[in-house]
Amino acid sequence: MSASLGDFLRGLPDFPENLPDFDVASAPADPAALFRAWLEEAAAAGVRQPHACSLATVGAEGQPSSRMVLLKNIDADGWHFATSRTSRKGTELTANPRAALNFFWADQGRQVRVVGKVVELSAEASAADWRGRPADDGRDNPHWQLYAVLPREIEFWQGRHDRKHIRHIYRPGVQSGPPTPFPEVVSRPFPGPSCPDTGSR
Ligand SMILES: Cc1cc2nc3c(=O)[nH]c(=O)nc-3n(C[C@H](O)[C@H](O)[C@H](O)COP(=O)(O)O)c2cc1C
Repeated sequence: MSASLGDFLRGLPDFPENLPDFDVASAPADPAALFRAWLEEAAAAGVRQPHACSLATVGAEGQPSSRMVLLKNIDADGWHFATSRTSRKGTELTANPRAALNFFWADQGRQVRVVGKVVELSAEASAADWRGRPADDGRDNPHWQLYAVLPREIEFWQGRHDRKHIRHIYRPGVQSGPPTPFPEVVSRPFPGPSCPDTGSR
């Protein structure tokens, strides 16, 4: 008889031996710069689609759902992704414009979490994104929408074999993190685009 699923799961390999160091003290003040550095390291190491992330939205009854999307850019508007406005995520974002992104690079033992308010970018920017897709067939898609997550919190997580995982959190205007059982949590305010923390996370 084959091993139970639980045993199989417990036997799966952990992160690779050589995880990168993360010196929080020398992390850039701008989380977008740190994200770009981690993204480029993942790409250079051969990670496929390192710009893919899970996007979580919330439905009318408070039920979260998530799926993968591709990051399109980061600028003063926030962290861009695109989808059809008529999709489940599109209709959920129309009703409740808040979302969470989660990037994971297993070979680097790294995760980046972004939460915030979602804004719709312009029709021109959305059309340009649609036309810029690799599979562009020349047809318009009036439902295609470019969105941006304006972060209220961004967490960089670096796994370690000694389990002292590092959590480096950027929050606008917050000088130190909340009480936490994880001494590795370091919080700092960030200067980039963000939405105010209204208290409901
Ligand atoms: C790696 C990866 C990247 C994806 N990128 C996108 C994307 O950028 N935009 C999109 O609409 N769907 C993308 N998809 C498909 C979505 O995950 C999803 O299946 C689809 O958009 C429908 O989601 P919804 O019904 O929850 O709205 C991607 C899927 C994968 C696996």
